[in-house]
Amino acid sequence: MKYYMPVRLYDEKDCVVRHADDIANVGRKALIVTGRRSAFLNGAFDDLISALSSGGVSYLVFSEVEENPSTDTVLSAAARFAGEGVDMVIGIGGGSAMDAAKAIALLLRHPGAGLDYLYDPDKSPEALPVICVPTTCGTGSEVTGVSVLTRHDKKTKISMVHKVFPVLSLIDGKYLKNAPHSLIVNSSVDALAHLYESLLNQKADDYVKMTAFAGLGMWSLTRDVLTGKRECTDEDRSYLMRSSAIAGMSIAQSGTSIPHALSYTITYDLGIAHGMAAGFFLPGFIALAPGKERKEILNLSGFADTDELTSFIANASGGINIPDDELEKAYEKVRNNEAKMKSASFDIDEKTLRDIVWYMI
Ligand SMILES: [Fe+2]
Repeated sequence: MKYYMPVRLYDEKDCVVRHADDIANVGRKALIVTGRRSAFLNGAFDDLISALSSGGVSYLVFSEVEENPSTDTVLSAAARFAGEGVDMVIGIGGGSAMDAAKAIALLLRHPGAGLDYLYDPDKSPEALPVICVPTTCGTGSEVTGVSVLTRHDKKTKISMVHKVFPVLSLIDGKYLKNAPHSLIVNSSVDALAHLYESLLNQKADDYVKMTAFAGLGMWSLTRDVLTGKRECTDEDRSYLMRSSAIAGMSIAQSGTSIPHALSYTITYDLGIAHGMAAGFFLPGFIALAPGKERKEILNLSGFADTDELTSFIANASGGINIPDDELEKAYEKVRNNEAKMKSASFDIDEKTLRDIVWYMI
Protein backbone atom coordinates (compact mmCIF):
# COMPACT_ATOMS: atom_id res chain seq x y z
CA MET A 1 0.00 0.00 0.00
CA LYS A 2 1.05 3.56 -0.59
CA TYR A 3 -0.34 6.79 0.77
CA TYR A 4 0.83 10.14 -0.57
CA MET A 5 -0.75 13.49 0.30
CA PRO A 6 2.01 16.10 0.34
CA VAL A 7 -0.22 19.18 0.72
CA ARG A 8 0.04 21.56 3.67
CA LEU A 9 -3.59 22.29 4.28
CA TYR A 10 -5.37 24.89 6.38
CA ASP A 11 -9.13 24.60 6.70
CA GLU A 12 -10.51 27.45 8.78
CA LYS A 13 -12.24 30.78 8.57
CA ASP A 14 -10.13 33.57 7.03
CA CYS A 15 -7.24 31.17 6.48
CA VAL A 16 -5.98 32.95 3.33
CA VAL A 17 -5.30 36.15 5.25
CA ARG A 18 -4.20 34.35 8.41
CA HIS A 19 -1.58 32.33 6.58
CA ALA A 20 -0.01 35.13 4.56
CA ASP A 21 3.37 34.02 5.91
CA ASP A 22 2.95 30.49 4.59
CA ILE A 23 2.14 31.94 1.16
CA ALA A 24 5.17 34.25 1.27
CA ASN A 25 7.37 31.27 2.15
CA VAL A 26 6.47 29.56 -1.11
CA GLY A 27 7.65 32.30 -3.49
CA ARG A 28 8.26 35.99 -4.14
CA LYS A 29 6.40 36.52 -7.41
CA ALA A 30 3.08 34.80 -8.01
CA LEU A 31 1.00 34.17 -11.09
CA ILE A 32 -2.63 34.12 -9.96
CA VAL A 33 -4.73 31.84 -12.18
CA THR A 34 -8.49 32.22 -12.02
CA GLY A 35 -11.72 32.48 -14.00
CA ARG A 36 -13.35 35.65 -15.22
CA ARG A 37 -15.78 36.38 -12.39
CA SER A 38 -16.44 34.27 -9.32
CA ALA A 39 -13.17 34.73 -7.39
CA PHE A 40 -13.66 38.49 -7.74
CA LEU A 41 -17.22 38.30 -6.38
CA ASN A 42 -16.87 35.83 -3.49
CA GLY A 43 -14.06 37.70 -1.74
CA ALA A 44 -11.34 35.12 -2.36
CA PHE A 45 -9.36 37.31 -4.76
CA ASP A 46 -9.40 40.28 -2.36
CA ASP A 47 -8.27 38.09 0.53
CA LEU A 48 -5.43 36.72 -1.57
CA ILE A 49 -4.26 40.18 -2.65
CA SER A 50 -4.24 41.38 0.94
CA ALA A 51 -2.25 38.28 2.01
CA LEU A 52 0.27 38.78 -0.83
CA SER A 53 0.64 42.46 0.00
CA SER A 54 1.24 41.81 3.68
CA GLY A 55 3.86 39.20 2.77
CA GLY A 56 5.56 41.55 0.29
CA VAL A 57 4.86 39.15 -2.60
CA SER A 58 4.40 40.64 -6.08
CA TYR A 59 1.94 39.11 -8.52
CA LEU A 60 0.52 38.92 -12.04
CA VAL A 61 -3.00 37.80 -12.89
CA PHE A 62 -4.31 35.45 -15.55
CA SER A 63 -8.11 35.54 -15.29
CA GLU A 64 -9.16 33.86 -18.51
CA VAL A 65 -9.67 30.28 -17.38
CA GLU A 66 -12.88 28.90 -18.88
CA GLU A 67 -14.99 26.08 -17.49
CA ASN A 68 -13.35 22.76 -18.41
CA PRO A 69 -10.11 24.56 -19.36
CA SER A 70 -8.44 23.55 -22.58
CA THR A 71 -4.84 22.72 -23.32
CA ASP A 72 -4.92 25.77 -25.66
CA THR A 73 -5.65 28.03 -22.67
CA VAL A 74 -2.85 26.71 -20.45
CA LEU A 75 -0.36 26.78 -23.32
CA SER A 76 -1.19 30.38 -24.19
CA ALA A 77 -0.98 31.44 -20.53
CA ALA A 78 2.42 29.76 -20.16
CA ALA A 79 3.67 31.48 -23.33
CA ARG A 80 2.40 34.86 -22.12
CA PHE A 81 4.01 34.70 -18.67
CA ALA A 82 7.27 32.93 -19.54
CA GLY A 83 10.18 35.25 -18.80
CA GLU A 84 8.26 37.24 -16.16
CA GLY A 85 10.25 35.72 -13.28
CA VAL A 86 7.21 34.08 -11.71
CA ASP A 87 8.25 31.55 -9.06
CA MET A 88 4.87 30.20 -7.92
CA VAL A 89 1.36 29.76 -9.33
CA ILE A 90 -1.81 30.30 -7.27
CA GLY A 91 -5.02 28.69 -8.53
CA ILE A 92 -8.10 30.33 -7.09
CA GLY A 93 -11.62 29.17 -7.96
CA GLY A 94 -13.18 25.82 -8.83
CA GLY A 95 -11.51 22.80 -10.35
CA SER A 96 -11.04 24.58 -13.66
CA ALA A 97 -8.81 27.31 -12.19
CA MET A 98 -6.87 24.93 -9.97
CA ASP A 99 -6.33 22.34 -12.72
CA ALA A 100 -5.21 25.08 -15.11
CA ALA A 101 -2.83 26.44 -12.45
CA LYS A 102 -1.13 23.05 -12.13
CA ALA A 103 -0.62 22.70 -15.89
CA ILE A 104 0.64 26.28 -16.22
CA ALA A 105 3.05 25.71 -13.30
CA LEU A 106 4.44 22.67 -15.09
CA LEU A 107 4.80 24.50 -18.40
CA LEU A 108 6.43 27.58 -16.83
CA ARG A 109 9.02 25.32 -15.20
CA HIS A 110 9.98 23.95 -18.65
CA PRO A 111 10.16 26.92 -21.03
CA GLY A 112 9.24 26.03 -24.58
CA ALA A 113 7.32 22.89 -23.55
CA GLY A 114 4.28 22.28 -25.76
CA LEU A 115 1.18 20.11 -25.75
CA ASP A 116 3.20 16.88 -26.01
CA TYR A 117 4.95 17.67 -22.75
CA LEU A 118 1.69 17.44 -20.79
CA TYR A 119 1.08 13.92 -22.05
CA ASP A 120 4.62 12.50 -22.20
CA PRO A 121 5.29 10.29 -19.14
CA ASP A 122 9.03 10.32 -19.85
CA LYS A 123 9.31 14.07 -19.24
CA SER A 124 10.06 15.56 -15.82
CA PRO A 125 6.95 16.20 -13.68
CA GLU A 126 8.70 19.03 -11.82
CA ALA A 127 6.61 22.20 -11.73
CA LEU A 128 6.71 25.61 -10.08
CA PRO A 129 5.13 25.34 -6.62
CA VAL A 130 1.33 25.61 -6.70
CA ILE A 131 -1.00 27.06 -4.07
CA CYS A 132 -4.75 26.38 -4.27
CA VAL A 133 -7.71 28.30 -2.88
CA PRO A 134 -10.92 26.40 -3.69
CA THR A 135 -14.17 28.34 -4.00
CA THR A 136 -16.44 25.42 -4.96
CA CYS A 137 -17.07 22.15 -3.11
CA GLY A 138 -16.60 19.24 -5.47
CA THR A 139 -13.38 18.94 -7.39
CA GLY A 140 -10.95 18.18 -4.57
CA SER A 141 -8.25 19.51 -6.88
CA GLU A 142 -6.72 21.34 -3.89
CA VAL A 143 -5.48 17.98 -2.55
CA THR A 144 -4.76 16.02 -5.73
CA GLY A 145 -2.00 16.09 -8.33
CA VAL A 146 -4.55 15.77 -11.12
CA SER A 147 -5.15 18.33 -13.85
CA VAL A 148 -8.01 17.45 -16.19
CA LEU A 149 -7.85 19.43 -19.42
CA THR A 150 -10.10 19.67 -22.46
CA ARG A 151 -8.47 18.35 -25.62
CA HIS A 152 -10.29 19.92 -28.55
CA ASP A 153 -8.19 17.76 -30.89
CA LYS A 154 -9.70 14.66 -29.27
CA LYS A 155 -13.11 16.17 -28.41
CA THR A 156 -12.96 15.13 -24.76
CA LYS A 157 -11.27 15.85 -21.41
CA ILE A 158 -8.03 14.05 -20.56
CA SER A 159 -5.87 14.35 -17.43
CA MET A 160 -2.28 15.35 -18.05
CA VAL A 161 0.03 12.46 -17.17
CA HIS A 162 2.12 14.39 -14.63
CA LYS A 163 0.99 14.76 -11.04
CA VAL A 164 1.37 18.28 -9.69
CA PHE A 165 0.21 18.41 -6.07
CA PRO A 166 -0.23 21.86 -4.54
CA VAL A 167 2.31 22.58 -1.81
CA LEU A 168 -0.28 24.61 0.11
CA SER A 169 -4.08 24.71 0.08
CA LEU A 170 -6.27 27.18 1.93
CA ILE A 171 -9.86 26.07 2.47
CA ASP A 172 -12.52 28.49 3.72
CA GLY A 173 -16.25 27.72 3.54
CA LYS A 174 -17.12 31.42 3.44
CA TYR A 175 -16.31 31.56 -0.28
CA LEU A 176 -19.46 29.48 -0.89
CA LYS A 177 -21.68 32.10 0.71
CA ASN A 178 -22.81 33.76 -2.51
CA ALA A 179 -22.50 30.69 -4.71
CA PRO A 180 -25.69 29.77 -6.62
CA HIS A 181 -27.51 26.75 -5.20
CA SER A 182 -27.09 24.91 -8.52
CA LEU A 183 -23.29 25.28 -8.33
CA ILE A 184 -23.22 23.91 -4.78
CA VAL A 185 -25.40 20.96 -5.79
CA ASN A 186 -23.39 20.22 -8.94
CA SER A 187 -20.08 20.31 -7.16
CA SER A 188 -21.32 18.29 -4.18
CA VAL A 189 -22.53 15.56 -6.52
CA ASP A 190 -19.01 15.54 -7.97
CA ALA A 191 -17.62 15.02 -4.43
CA LEU A 192 -20.12 12.19 -3.86
CA ALA A 193 -19.01 10.57 -7.12
CA HIS A 194 -15.37 10.82 -5.96
CA LEU A 195 -16.27 9.07 -2.69
CA TYR A 196 -18.23 6.26 -4.33
CA GLU A 197 -15.74 5.75 -7.15
CA SER A 198 -12.76 5.64 -4.81
CA LEU A 199 -14.45 3.05 -2.58
CA LEU A 200 -15.75 0.85 -5.40
CA ASN A 201 -12.29 0.86 -6.94
CA GLN A 202 -9.59 -1.74 -7.56
CA LYS A 203 -7.26 0.54 -5.61
CA ALA A 204 -9.54 0.96 -2.58
CA ASP A 205 -7.18 -0.02 0.24
CA ASP A 206 -7.52 0.73 3.96
CA TYR A 207 -6.12 4.24 3.48
CA VAL A 208 -8.63 5.09 0.76
CA LYS A 209 -11.38 3.71 3.00
CA MET A 210 -10.11 5.82 5.91
CA THR A 211 -10.72 9.04 4.02
CA ALA A 212 -13.70 8.00 1.90
CA PHE A 213 -15.78 6.66 4.81
CA ALA A 214 -15.13 9.85 6.76
CA GLY A 215 -16.04 11.87 3.67
CA LEU A 216 -19.36 10.04 3.19
CA GLY A 217 -20.40 10.74 6.78
CA MET A 218 -19.58 14.41 6.43
CA TRP A 219 -21.23 14.67 3.00
CA SER A 220 -24.49 13.27 4.45
CA LEU A 221 -24.68 16.12 6.99
CA THR A 222 -25.44 18.59 4.19
CA ARG A 223 -27.87 16.49 2.19
CA ASP A 224 -30.93 18.45 3.35
CA VAL A 225 -29.25 21.64 2.17
CA LEU A 226 -28.70 20.13 -1.26
CA THR A 227 -32.32 19.02 -1.55
CA GLY A 228 -33.50 22.48 -0.45
CA LYS A 229 -35.09 21.20 2.76
CA ARG A 230 -33.23 23.75 4.85
CA GLU A 231 -31.05 26.85 4.47
CA CYS A 232 -27.27 26.54 4.20
CA THR A 233 -25.44 27.66 7.36
CA ASP A 234 -21.80 28.64 7.83
CA GLU A 235 -21.22 25.24 9.40
CA ASP A 236 -22.72 23.54 6.32
CA ARG A 237 -20.41 25.53 4.07
CA SER A 238 -17.42 24.26 6.04
CA TYR A 239 -18.70 20.69 5.81
CA LEU A 240 -19.32 21.05 2.08
CA MET A 241 -15.76 22.24 1.48
CA ARG A 242 -14.26 19.69 3.86
CA SER A 243 -16.09 16.66 2.49
CA SER A 244 -14.98 17.71 -0.98
CA ALA A 245 -11.34 17.92 0.16
CA ILE A 246 -11.59 14.54 1.90
CA ALA A 247 -13.12 13.04 -1.26
CA GLY A 248 -10.19 14.53 -3.16
CA MET A 249 -7.75 12.81 -0.80
CA SER A 250 -9.46 9.52 -1.63
CA ILE A 251 -9.23 9.88 -5.42
CA ALA A 252 -5.67 11.16 -5.10
CA GLN A 253 -4.85 7.57 -4.06
CA SER A 254 -7.31 5.52 -6.09
CA GLY A 255 -8.26 7.58 -9.13
CA THR A 256 -11.86 7.66 -10.34
CA SER A 257 -13.77 4.92 -12.13
CA ILE A 258 -16.59 4.32 -14.63
CA PRO A 259 -18.97 7.28 -13.92
CA HIS A 260 -16.17 9.84 -14.37
CA ALA A 261 -14.87 8.07 -17.46
CA LEU A 262 -18.36 8.18 -19.00
CA SER A 263 -18.90 11.82 -18.01
CA TYR A 264 -16.16 13.41 -20.10
CA THR A 265 -17.79 12.86 -23.48
CA ILE A 266 -21.14 14.12 -22.16
CA THR A 267 -19.58 17.28 -20.76
CA TYR A 268 -17.59 17.95 -23.91
CA ASP A 269 -20.45 17.41 -26.34
CA LEU A 270 -23.44 18.73 -24.38
CA GLY A 271 -21.85 21.15 -21.91
CA ILE A 272 -23.45 19.36 -18.94
CA ALA A 273 -21.69 20.40 -15.70
CA HIS A 274 -18.99 17.96 -14.65
CA GLY A 275 -20.56 16.94 -11.32
CA MET A 276 -23.93 16.23 -12.82
CA ALA A 277 -22.45 14.41 -15.81
CA ALA A 278 -20.64 12.03 -13.43
CA GLY A 279 -23.66 11.90 -11.09
CA PHE A 280 -25.90 10.76 -13.94
CA PHE A 281 -24.01 7.45 -14.10
CA LEU A 282 -23.65 7.02 -10.34
CA PRO A 283 -26.92 5.16 -9.55
CA GLY A 284 -26.26 2.58 -12.29
CA PHE A 285 -22.72 2.11 -11.03
CA ILE A 286 -23.70 1.65 -7.40
CA ALA A 287 -26.59 -0.65 -8.36
CA LEU A 288 -24.03 -3.15 -9.64
CA ALA A 289 -21.85 -3.12 -6.52
CA PRO A 290 -21.94 -6.20 -4.27
CA GLY A 291 -24.88 -5.98 -1.84
CA LYS A 292 -23.06 -5.54 1.45
CA GLU A 293 -20.71 -2.86 0.11
CA ARG A 294 -23.53 -1.09 -1.69
CA LYS A 295 -25.69 -0.92 1.43
CA GLU A 296 -22.84 0.32 3.62
CA ILE A 297 -21.82 3.07 1.18
CA LEU A 298 -25.38 4.22 0.52
CA ASN A 299 -26.31 4.26 4.20
CA LEU A 300 -23.20 6.17 5.21
CA SER A 301 -24.03 8.86 2.67
CA GLY A 302 -27.59 9.06 4.00
CA PHE A 303 -29.49 7.01 1.39
CA ALA A 304 -31.66 4.01 2.32
CA ASP A 305 -31.16 2.30 -1.04
CA THR A 306 -30.26 2.80 -4.70
CA ASP A 307 -33.76 4.10 -5.50
CA GLU A 308 -33.37 6.92 -3.01
CA LEU A 309 -30.02 7.88 -4.55
CA THR A 310 -31.60 7.71 -8.01
CA SER A 311 -34.38 10.14 -7.03
CA PHE A 312 -31.85 12.45 -5.40
CA ILE A 313 -29.76 12.58 -8.59
CA ALA A 314 -32.86 12.97 -10.78
CA ASN A 315 -34.08 15.91 -8.68
CA ALA A 316 -30.64 17.49 -8.34
CA SER A 317 -30.08 17.37 -12.09
CA GLY A 318 -33.50 18.83 -12.87
CA GLY A 319 -34.06 15.86 -15.18
CA ILE A 320 -31.14 16.12 -17.60
CA ASN A 321 -31.88 14.71 -20.98
CA ILE A 322 -29.07 12.87 -22.71
CA PRO A 323 -29.85 11.67 -26.23
CA ASP A 324 -29.34 8.01 -26.98
CA ASP A 325 -26.63 8.55 -29.59
CA GLU A 326 -24.62 10.53 -27.02
CA LEU A 327 -24.93 7.73 -24.46
CA GLU A 328 -23.83 5.29 -27.15
CA LYS A 329 -20.76 7.42 -27.85
CA ALA A 330 -19.79 7.60 -24.15
CA TYR A 331 -20.38 3.85 -23.86
CA GLU A 332 -18.11 3.07 -26.83
CA LYS A 333 -15.27 5.23 -25.53
CA VAL A 334 -15.22 3.54 -22.13
CA ARG A 335 -15.81 0.06 -23.55
CA ASN A 336 -12.60 0.49 -25.53
CA ASN A 337 -10.64 1.78 -22.54
CA GLU A 338 -9.19 -1.34 -20.98
CA ALA A 339 -7.77 0.40 -17.91
CA LYS A 340 -11.09 2.05 -17.07
CA MET A 341 -13.04 -1.17 -17.62
CA LYS A 342 -10.83 -2.75 -14.96
CA SER A 343 -10.90 0.20 -12.55
CA ALA A 344 -13.93 -0.85 -10.49
CA SER A 345 -13.72 -3.26 -7.56
CA PHE A 346 -16.30 -5.53 -9.23
CA ASP A 347 -16.41 -6.99 -12.75
CA ILE A 348 -17.67 -4.74 -15.52
CA ASP A 349 -18.26 -6.22 -18.96
CA GLU A 350 -19.95 -4.90 -22.10
CA LYS A 351 -23.38 -5.86 -20.83
CA THR A 352 -23.02 -4.39 -17.33
CA LEU A 353 -21.45 -1.21 -18.73
CA ARG A 354 -24.56 -0.84 -20.88
CA ASP A 355 -26.70 -1.26 -17.73
CA ILE A 356 -24.80 1.58 -16.03
CA VAL A 357 -25.05 3.94 -19.00
CA TRP A 358 -28.81 3.51 -19.53
CA TYR A 359 -29.81 3.09 -15.85
CA MET A 360 -31.32 6.57 -15.50
CA ILE A 361 -33.27 6.46 -18.78
FE1 LIG B 1 -14.86 14.92 -10.58
